[in-house]
Amino acid sequence: MVEANPFATVQQIAGGYCLPRCLHVVADLGVADALDETPRTAADLAAAVGAHPDALSRALRLLAAHGVFAMQRDQFCHSPASRLLRTDHPQSMRAFARMFGLPVFWATFEAFAHSVRTGLPATATVFPDGFWAYLAQHPEAGRVFNAAMGAKAHGTVAGILAAYDFSGFGLVGDIGGGSGHLLRAVLDAEPSARGVLFDLPQVIEEAAGVASARLTLQAGDFFRAALPRCDAYLLMEIIHDWGDEEAVAILQRIRRAAPPHAKVLLIETIVPDDPGPDWSKVLDIHMLALLGGRQRTRQEYEALLTESGLCLEREIDTGAGISILEAGVA
Ligand SMILES: C[S@@+](CC[C@H](N)C(=O)[O-])C[C@H]1O[C@@H](n2cnc3c(N)ncnc32)[C@H](O)[C@@H]1O
Repeated sequence: MVEANPFATVQQIAGGYCLPRCLHVVADLGVADALDETPRTAADLAAAVGAHPDALSRALRLLAAHGVFAMQRDQFCHSPASRLLRTDHPQSMRAFARMFGLPVFWATFEAFAHSVRTGLPATATVFPDGFWAYLAQHPEAGRVFNAAMGAKAHGTVAGILAAYDFSGFGLVGDIGGGSGHLLRAVLDAEPSARGVLFDLPQVIEEAAGVASARLTLQAGDFFRAALPRCDAYLLMEIIHDWGDEEAVAILQRIRRAAPPHAKVLLIETIVPDDPGPDWSKVLDIHMLALLGGRQRTRQEYEALLTESGLCLEREIDTGAGISILEAGVA
């Protein structure tokens, strides 16, 4: 929120990183899991999760001031947002909060000036093999990342299914589909469709349990491996991970694999024309710093599709903070 007082604006933004850090640590500790419907003191919660009572109380007080948990005198209880930090919540966002606290994120942002000076991903200065290799080399971080992708989808998949008619597609490919959360939801909604989940080998290995007679798994690198021939291609938050050159290379490879009737669906948070605060602008900085990617406007996505031999046919706002850009094989 932009404060009316300019001193307060600078103050809040300069020191504001404490707030997300409290969220990451509280999510990591599992504080929301230790709290049920009965309000508890910070001392009780600290004993349950192995934390310092006073320090935890102060972290929770700050979070509660921003709507995550609530304070009732000297006790804490759940708010709608803190319930989402519970592991057992059907739409749990705990892994999503934990992902932003991973060391690879914080080391990257310590080096963020490198990105601003050069336009290159700061991650490469701390982990020269880059973000995806880091996840492959740090399996626990990779698991948190994959779970976070599933967690963020809790907020978007219902909107995607409501906004787009997937009937009529025989084979749906989810390219960079992670653990297959979107593809599985599409196949559940369309019982006659089959799917192929394509991702890097370590991600496909972790997703082994989702394979079925209707859902096959394909491990590979989308810059090198043969891509499946599908009636529809889902690319949810894939193109934003990459700079323009790599994005065009991915789309061109899909175009070459696709039959003429295929649809390519880019599912992305579009940068709006409105200059006000928007999640797309936060995501954009993460893409810059971690990956050298970018969050794009509709016009920028259209230019990438055209350069790749694809033709933007429709933009569908799902109403869930993410849009579907439907492209045909030109
Ligand atoms: C931002 S995640 C998006 C996951 C999923 N589509 C979603 O939106 O929840 C990007 C995905 O691309 C995959 N990926 C990255 N580089 C890849 C490559 N070279 N080939 C195949 N998949 C890749 C990652 O493993 C990850 O699952």
